[in-house]
Amino acid sequence: MRKLPVTKLVTLICLLLTMNGLSQNHVMTVNLKKIAARVEPTMWGIFFEDINFAADGGLYAELVKNRSFEFSKPLMGWKIMKPDTATGVLILNESEINSSNPRFARVSIHHGEPSFGLSNEGFRGMGIKNGMTYHFSALLRLTPGSNLKMRIELADPKGNVLGSANLIPDSGTWEKYQVNFKASSTEMKARLNIWFEGEGSLDLDMISLFPDDTWKNRPGGLRADLVQLLAEMKPGFIRFPGGCIVEGRELETRYQWKKTIGNQESRKLIINRWNTEFNYHLTPDYFQSFGMGFFEYFQLCEDLGAEPLPILSCGLACQYNSAEAVPLEQLDPYIQDAMDLIEFANGSGESGWGKIRAQMGHPAPFNLKMIGIGNEQWGEQYIERYKVFAKVLKTKYPAIKLVSSAGPSPSGKNFDFASKELKNLEAEIVDEHYYSKPDWFFKNASRYDGYDRNSYKIFAGEYAAHGDKSGTAETHNNWECALSEAAFMTGLERNADVVHLCSYAPLFAHIDAWQWSPDLIWFDNLQSYGTPNYYVQKLFATNKGTDVVPILSEYKPVTGQDGLYASATTDQNSHEIILKLVNSNSEDRQVKIVLDGAKRLSKKASALILRNSDLKSFNSFRNPVAIVPIENSIELKGKLLDLSLPPYSFSVIKIKQD
Ligand code: AHR
Repeated sequence: MRKLPVTKLVTLICLLLTMNGLSQNHVMTVNLKKIAARVEPTMWGIFFEDINFAADGGLYAELVKNRSFEFSKPLMGWKIMKPDTATGVLILNESEINSSNPRFARVSIHHGEPSFGLSNEGFRGMGIKNGMTYHFSALLRLTPGSNLKMRIELADPKGNVLGSANLIPDSGTWEKYQVNFKASSTEMKARLNIWFEGEGSLDLDMISLFPDDTWKNRPGGLRADLVQLLAEMKPGFIRFPGGCIVEGRELETRYQWKKTIGNQESRKLIINRWNTEFNYHLTPDYFQSFGMGFFEYFQLCEDLGAEPLPILSCGLACQYNSAEAVPLEQLDPYIQDAMDLIEFANGSGESGWGKIRAQMGHPAPFNLKMIGIGNEQWGEQYIERYKVFAKVLKTKYPAIKLVSSAGPSPSGKNFDFASKELKNLEAEIVDEHYYSKPDWFFKNASRYDGYDRNSYKIFAGEYAAHGDKSGTAETHNNWECALSEAAFMTGLERNADVVHLCSYAPLFAHIDAWQWSPDLIWFDNLQSYGTPNYYVQKLFATNKGTDVVPILSEYKPVTGQDGLYASATTDQNSHEIILKLVNSNSEDRQVKIVLDGAKRLSKKASALILRNSDLKSFNSFRNPVAIVPIENSIELKGKLLDLSLPPYSFSVIKIKQD
C-alpha cells in the first residue's frame, strides 16, 4: 500500500473527525522548505513623539518644569514663597544678548527684608526616591555688592523636607553651580524649594534637578526605567521626533532639529503642539525644552541597537491645523536641513555638521540610513514637495532611503491618490497609519497579501486599535485591542517582503498629563508599565526570526478562518522555528501543526502565551501584570505539534531544529 505523507494523513484524519462532529481540530502546515520572505532587521521598531509628556516630564529625566522661565507665562510651574514685605522676583529678558534663552529670574532681597523662596512643582510633582542622589544645578550671577545664599530643598506635599543642600554663589558673571544631595524618603509628588537669604540680587537661569540613576548614568540623561522598557523590546529602529510634532500646528512651531542640539541652554524652547490640541485635554504647561534633542535621539538608537529614522518637515504644517505650506520655490532651507542632518549623523568629524556631533561627544558617525520626508501629509501639495526633496536628496545621497507619507488613513481618496503618485515616483518606503477599531485590525490581517510586489515597501508607521473608551485611560489599552493588533501583525510578518518597518503609536503617556490614548507604555513620576499592546509588540520584536515560511490551513494563509491567525518564521542564527498564533475565540481551539520539511527537532517546544478570558482586561499601576507572557513547554510528536490554543490568546511557539 502507498504511504500517505504525514501532512495529508493528519488532514484526512482531522477532516473525518470534524465530519463526525467529534472534534474542532484545525490542521496547519508549515512549509519549512520554502522561504517566502526575509525579515528585515528593522521590521519591528518604535515610534517616539513628545506627546502625553513623553519627553519633557517623561523620558527626559529633568525634574524642574520651566527651568529657564521661557514658558509663555514665565513663572508657570513656580510659586513664590514670600512674606508680604519681600521684594520678590523679576523676570528679565535679554533677547538681544541671548535670543535662544532670553529670560531669567532676578531675586532681590532689600536691607531688612525677610528671606523668601521659589518653589517648583515639577511635571505634575517630582518623583523622588529614598536614598537616591539628586543633582541640582543652575546658572547664577550675583549683582555687584550682593551676598545672597541659597538653600535647596526637596519637600513632600505637606512641606516635610526630604533632602537639602546649601549653595553660596560668588560670581558676578553667569556661572554654572552644582550641588548634590540625597533624598531621605520616596515621594511621587515632591516639590523643589529654593530659599534665599542675605541682601542684594541674584540672577537665576536653567534651574535643574536630575536623579543620579539616569539611563547609563549619563548626567542630565534619560529616565532609566522607561529606556529599559524600550531596550527590552529590542527595537529594529526608532522613528523620531514624531508624529504631528514634526509638522507643527503652523510652520513656525515645526520641529527644527538644528535648534535641538548643542548646549542645553542654547536650545530654544517652544510650545508643544499638544498643549492646545484637544479642548477636552488642554495641557497649558506643555512645552518643548528640547533637553532631549536630535543628538540624544541618535544616541538612544545607538544604545538600543536600533536604526535611526528621523522624520523631517517637508514644508507643510499640520494639515488638520493651519495647513500652511512653504511655496515650492522657497523649499531650499527645508531641503538643506535634511542634507545637513545627514552630514550631522554621518559626516566625518572634520565636516561642518559632523564636527558639531564630535564636539557633543560622538566623533564616530551615527550611520543614518533612512530619513522621512514629512509626517502624515496628504494631497497634491505633499507630492509636489516630496518630489523636490527626493530629486535633491537622491542625487546627493543615493544610499539614504527616503520614507514618504500615505496620509492619515489607510484607505480613501487621499490614500489612493498618494499610493498612485508615490508608485509612479518610484518611492522607496511609504508610511501608512491606521488608528481603527479592533475589528478593523482583525479584518485586515490579510491587507498586504495582495499588495504589489513590484512597488514601494511599507512602513506601518503608526497603528493602534482604538476600542472601548468609556473607562479610565488605562482601560483603553484593553486586551481586545492588543489581541486584534497581534492578529493584524501576523499579516505584517507574513508579508515581510513588502512590509519593512512597523511601529505602534504613540509610545508613552504620563497618567496625569496625557492627551491621547491608547498608548504603549504608561508611567507616573515613579513607576512605569507595559500595556498588553506592549507585550504583543515585544513578543513579535524579540521573536522575529530571519525568514518567513508559509503556514497554511487548507492551502491558504491563516487570516481569520474560525477566528484563527498565524504566521511563521525560522531563525538562521538560533536554528528555531517560530510560530505566532492568535485565537480570537471565546473557547479554545485544537490545532495540529505539521512541520513539513523539518530537520531534527527538539523533543519539546517552548511557548510564550499572552491570554486573558476577559477582553476588557488591562494592565494598570495597581496590577501591571494582569496580561504578561506566561512560559510553557509542549511535547512534540515527531514533526507534529498538538496544540490547544486558549480562548483569546496570542502564542509564540519556538522549536529548535538542527
Ligand atoms: O500618534 C499620535 C498622532 O497620530 C501623531 O502625532 C500623528 O502623526 C497621528 O495623527
